[in-house]
Amino acid sequence: GFAGFDDHMSKEIAEQPEVAARTIDALAPGVGDGSLWHGLVLPRFERVAVIGCGTSLNAGRVIASAFERLGGVPSTSFIASEAAETVIEPGTLMIALSQSGETADVLRAVDELDLSRSSLVAITNNEHSTLARRADSVLTCQAGPEIGVAATKTFVAQVVTGVATALSALVATGRMTPGEAARQVDDLKRLPDLLAHAIAVSSEALPPVVDSVLDEPGFLFLGRGSGIVFAAEGALKLKELSYRWAEHYPAGELKHGPLALIQEGTPVVVIDSGERRLESNIAEVEARGGRVIRIGGPGSTVPALGQSLTAPFPGAMDRWGPLESVVPLQMLARELAKALGHDVDKPRNLAKSVTVE
Ligand code: M6R
Repeated sequence: GFAGFDDHMSKEIAEQPEVAARTIDALAPGVGDGSLWHGLVLPRFERVAVIGCGTSLNAGRVIASAFERLGGVPSTSFIASEAAETVIEPGTLMIALSQSGETADVLRAVDELDLSRSSLVAITNNEHSTLARRADSVLTCQAGPEIGVAATKTFVAQVVTGVATALSALVATGRMTPGEAARQVDDLKRLPDLLAHAIAVSSEALPPVVDSVLDEPGFLFLGRGSGIVFAAEGALKLKELSYRWAEHYPAGELKHGPLALIQEGTPVVVIDSGERRLESNIAEVEARGGRVIRIGGPGSTVPALGQSLTAPFPGAMDRWGPLESVVPLQMLARELAKALGHDVDKPRNLAKSVTVE
């Protein structure tokens, strides 16, 4: 066994509270005075662009929205395999995310983009990787080795590292006061408890949910605002591990097409990041017989988000997203895959590090 766990993935999910705590402890001292930022090249920037693939791209999207929502910095994200045609404007802080640091699509993008008037920061779990060598500055994640092909704890480490960097950069460039940054860091320090709570709650709540969807061929994942990227991550995990079709949408798009997919029993996972308009989208799904699996919020199936721990949810994380929502999504995908008899550490057709284009 793997230290009492059934598989690497379950161990890596369980490690997330401690990974978050370690990462926050390592970075927090450099946030409030902007010094985390001082080692990085490019003291001034006007905009942020992130690149990555798969789960790393999703982490990048969360980080981009932290720059945008906390500091008003225009931010975009690019799929690495499609980034080469992109025009990178002067004064762009370019952030490349890759757990392995060896993903061919990311390395190719870094080679082909014109980064002469911008600066490249790498966020990676491998400080000796090719990506780390090519970047102007490197932030190493504190996740430790990840064996399961599905990225879990490295997603959490990437998001925390990126958000801490964003806070430090906003202080260093006068966009945020040190006091506000300190408040944000205090909020971030709640994350290990929120993740542990999410693990405990999900272990209780998910088994009957999984039983009820075993025969469903397809899943929809919905969110609004900061919840959208977590819907994307949940759908990616579910496809990768269970081999079932899964789509993610901003919930507002439902009535512009995907609502036609809903029939009796269709599972629809909703990330409730506190957006009021989600209620009418949920009602639309239920009216067609869809089975709503609600992560967080009132009447949730899996009450795993911060607002159910201490109401009302007071923090800043509600601006860049409920990071702890990734836990029930990872566990849903894993438990469904297990129930279907799949190897969750080595899903078919996939490799841990994708070194071909
Ligand atoms: O090593 P990287 O972070 O660059 O890998 C990127 C993707 O291949 C990776 O995140 C993939 O999407 C995961 N298997 C998803 O769980």
